[in-house]
Amino acid sequence: MTRYLITSALPYINGMKHLGNLVGSMLPADVYARFLRLEGKKVLYICATDEHGTPAEIAALEEGLDIETYCDIQHQRQKDIYMRFGLSFDYFGRSSSPQNHELTQHFYGLLEKNGFIEERGIQQIYSLDDERYLPDRYVIGTCPKCGYTRARGDQCESCASLLNPSELVEPRSAVSGSQNLELRTSKHLFLKLDALSPEIQAWVQSHGDWPKLTSSIAMKWLNEGLQPRCITRDLSWGVPVPREGYENKVFYVWFDAPIEYVGATKEWSDLDPSNRDWKSWWFDASDVYYAQFMAKDNLPFHTIIWPATILGTREPWTMASYIKGFNWLTYYGGKFSTSQQRGVFMDDALEILPPDYWRYFLMSVAPESDDSDFGWDLFAAVVNKDLAGTLGNFVNRTLKLVSSRFGTTIPDGGQWGEHEDELLAECTDTVEEYRTALRNFEFRKASHALKKLWTHGNVYIDARAPWSLIKTDRDEAALVLRTCINLVRTYAIASSPFIPFTSEALFDALDMTEEERKAGLDDALNLTALKAGRPFQVPPILFRRLDSDEVKELQRKFEGI
Ligand code: 2FM
Ligand code: ZN
Repeated sequence: MTRYLITSALPYINGMKHLGNLVGSMLPADVYARFLRLEGKKVLYICATDEHGTPAEIAALEEGLDIETYCDIQHQRQKDIYMRFGLSFDYFGRSSSPQNHELTQHFYGLLEKNGFIEERGIQQIYSLDDERYLPDRYVIGTCPKCGYTRARGDQCESCASLLNPSELVEPRSAVSGSQNLELRTSKHLFLKLDALSPEIQAWVQSHGDWPKLTSSIAMKWLNEGLQPRCITRDLSWGVPVPREGYENKVFYVWFDAPIEYVGATKEWSDLDPSNRDWKSWWFDASDVYYAQFMAKDNLPFHTIIWPATILGTREPWTMASYIKGFNWLTYYGGKFSTSQQRGVFMDDALEILPPDYWRYFLMSVAPESDDSDFGWDLFAAVVNKDLAGTLGNFVNRTLKLVSSRFGTTIPDGGQWGEHEDELLAECTDTVEEYRTALRNFEFRKASHALKKLWTHGNVYIDARAPWSLIKTDRDEAALVLRTCINLVRTYAIASSPFIPFTSEALFDALDMTEEERKAGLDDALNLTALKAGRPFQVPPILFRRLDSDEVKELQRKFEGI
C-alpha cells in the first residue's frame, strides 16, 4: 500500500506568520493530510522552522538575544500558534537540529565526491565595525537613480531599480549604520547546477501531472540555462562547512533548509526509534508518494535546486511526486507585509475568531490558478453564508427542533423512502466530487463541493418540512429528523479536513465514541448509522455572523501603517 509523505515549506523562524503564509503552504498541506487519513491512508506530515540565515541573526540582534535563545523562543511561539490552528503535523522540527547538521554535511560530502562542487572567489561588502560580511540587502544608502536615501544594496524600494551595493551613494551597514565598509574577496563553494541540468529537466518532464504554475516556473529556469549557485556564506550561524579553509563559513540557508525535511523526519524518528523509521520514508522508498506544498517564490528551489542536490548525491533519496505551488493571497490588492504590519497575522486572527472560520475561508479562496485578494467584506460574506447560514443553520435548527418536539434522544418511527434515496444519491455524488478534488489537490473546488454537501441538508429539511409533518404524521417527521441528525454526522466526518474543531464539536453533540469518530468518507454516507434512542445535545451556535459595523471596524484596525 502506498504511504504518503507530506511536507509544507518551512516557515522562517523570524516573526509571526500571516494568513498569506498560511494559505500557501501549511493549511492546504494539513487539509490534504487530514483527507488522506480520513481515507485510511498511512500519512506522515512533516514541517519545521527554517532557522538559519541573516534575517534571523539580525532579528536576534535587534531583540538583544543570542541567536540560539531567539530561535528557541520563536520556534515555540510558532509551534503553539500552528497547534491552535489545528495543523496536524506528525512532527514539527527545527533546521538547526543536530540531525539536520549531520545530513547537510552528508549531502555536501557526496556532491563534492561526485564532482558537483566548485570553488570560486567572490566579492562581498565587509563591515569593519560589525565584524561581519553584509548580504547585499543589509547595505543601505542613497539610490543613484532616484535619490531615495534608504535604498537597499539589492534593490531600491522607491524606484524599483535593481542595484549593486557598490552603486549606492554613501553606503552604510543596515545593522549598525557604520560607514566603515570595504569590498573583500573570499572563496566560496558553488553547486554545479549546469552539470545536472539534463537530469533535472528529465525529472521535471517525467511529471506531466504537476500544476501549470509549478511546471512553468521549472521550465523557465531550465530554458534560461542553469548556472552554478553559491551554497556557502561568511557567517557563523548555520551548518559548518566541513572543508579546509571554510572554518568561518556555513552553508547558505537555502542549502540546508530542504534537507531539514529529511532532518525533521529523523528528529521524529530519534524520539521513538523502535517504532519510527525515518529512513524507510526517505531512502529507497518505492512505496512512498511524496507531496510538497509551497508558495510560488519557493518553486525554483523545489523544482530545480533541491532535486539537483539529491540527484548529485547519486543516492536514492525520495524526490517529490507532486509539487503544489500557490499564487499570492493579497491584502486589498497589495502585499501582506511583515515589516509594515499590513494584513492579518495568525495570532491576530485567532483573537478575532476561532480557527475553523479562517481555515474554511482561506481554502475557499485559495490562490490556485491566480492570485486572490483578501477583503473583510468577502470574509464576512463567506462566513455568514456558508458557515453560519448553511452548515451552522442546518445543524442548529435540526437539533433544536428534535429536542423541542421529541426530546434529546434520536426519535424512532417512519420508513426510509424515495426522498431519502434521493438525498443519499445527491450526497454520494457530492462526496465523490469532493474526494476527486482533494485527490487532485484542488482545494477551492473541494471547499465548494463541501458547501454543496451542506446545502443538501437544508434543501431536504425545507422540502420535507418536519415542523408541519409532525402535525399529521409524527412517525414520518421522526424519520426526517433522524435522517437529518445522521446528516450532521456525515458533515462532521466529511468536513473534518477543513474544519476539524467544528467536527469535534459535532461529534460531541452526537455523543459519538472515539471509535465512531474514526469513520471514513465512505462510511460517512451511511445515513442510518445513528439509531433511534441515542442521546444527543444541542450545541451552542456553531458559527456567528459578522455584521457590517464589525467589518468596518476590522477594516480600520488592519489597515497597516
Ligand atoms: O520562503 C520561505 O519561507 C522559506 N523559509 C521556505 C523554505 S522551504 C524548505 F526548503 F525548507
Ligand atoms: Zn531609487
